Amino acid sequence: MASDKVVLVTGAGGGLGGAMAQALAEAGHRVAAADVDANRLDDLVARVGTQPGEIIPFEVNLADKDACQALVGQVVDRCGDLFMLVNNAGVGQQVVDPDYSGNPKMFWDVDIDDWETLINVNTRAPLILTQAAVRHFLRQGRGRIVNVTTSFDTMLFSGVWAYGQSKAALEAVSASLAGLLAETPVRLNILVPGGPANTGLLPANTRMDRAKIIQPPVMGPPIVWLASDEAAQFNNRRMIALQWDASLPGLEAAQKASAPAAWPGFGVQAAAPK
Ligand SMILES: NC(=O)c1ccc[n+]([C@@H]2O[C@H](COP(=O)([O-])OP(=O)(O)OC[C@H]3O[C@@H](n4cnc5c(N)ncnc54)[C@H](O)[C@@H]3O)[C@@H](O)[C@H]2O)c1
Repeated sequence: MASDKVVLVTGAGGGLGGAMAQALAEAGHRVAAADVDANRLDDLVARVGTQPGEIIPFEVNLADKDACQALVGQVVDRCGDLFMLVNNAGVGQQVVDPDYSGNPKMFWDVDIDDWETLINVNTRAPLILTQAAVRHFLRQGRGRIVNVTTSFDTMLFSGVWAYGQSKAALEAVSASLAGLLAETPVRLNILVPGGPANTGLLPANTRMDRAKIIQPPVMGPPIVWLASDEAAQFNNRRMIALQWDASLPGLEAAQKASAPAAWPGFGVQAAAPK
């Protein structure tokens, strides 16, 4: 059954984004599917079809600041609404070091313009989109944001230092913004697969057995729940899709699979006044 909810999923042409777009459309939502790769968007539309929800493709380069700033308005104009923003688009270490898993560069040899591109897609774009979406959400009195970051060990893994940095920054700002939004009707949470997932983000020469790692459909049940009415008070949590227990009622599954965003328990303010 179609819903009145429009969900913008960035990077919807990719592995995790495609799985989330498909699950949301199957749950009846209208999915504004944004990606820089038009062929991937065509594949998504062909694969998912239009029932019971709908996939509405938006070709956009999120490395471009102006394109980010325009996207939320374009979605609202074309789809008539926006209920949820899923900041999923991302690029990997390949952007700064094309053969990082076979013949890695040292970090001092990386071109800082490439680093900036990675940061712009993975960290700047979600913030610009969140600003625009929150303005719209506050006007309409409801709205949700879901940011896709990564696992803590990946953030600290030397082999993907630029990627890890971009995701650590997104994780931190997600927790800060969710705190600022707590008194508003807007909710912001983090969703991660829970480990390496079988998508195009992994290098072609990865030594991991793709069949044995996380498969993208794992993202479906949690993202559909995060768009549900039951999630209206759920905020500032970090959900691990792999830990979603489908045998539990939605709220219980969400609580079991999540913890406070950005590991606030690690914080020690030794010098802070009491
Ligand atoms: N695959 C993993 O192991 C893993 C683990 C944890 C988190 N993640 C995160 O999941 C998210 C989705 O990645 P994925 O694994 O599905 O990879 P993917 O490469 O399959 O999908 C990423 C999508 O983002 C799009 N994209 C890249 N640059 C863009 C730009 N400038 N503008 C618009 N779209 C752009 C790509 O075209 C692609 O369709 C990323 O943020 C990634 O960091 C992935």
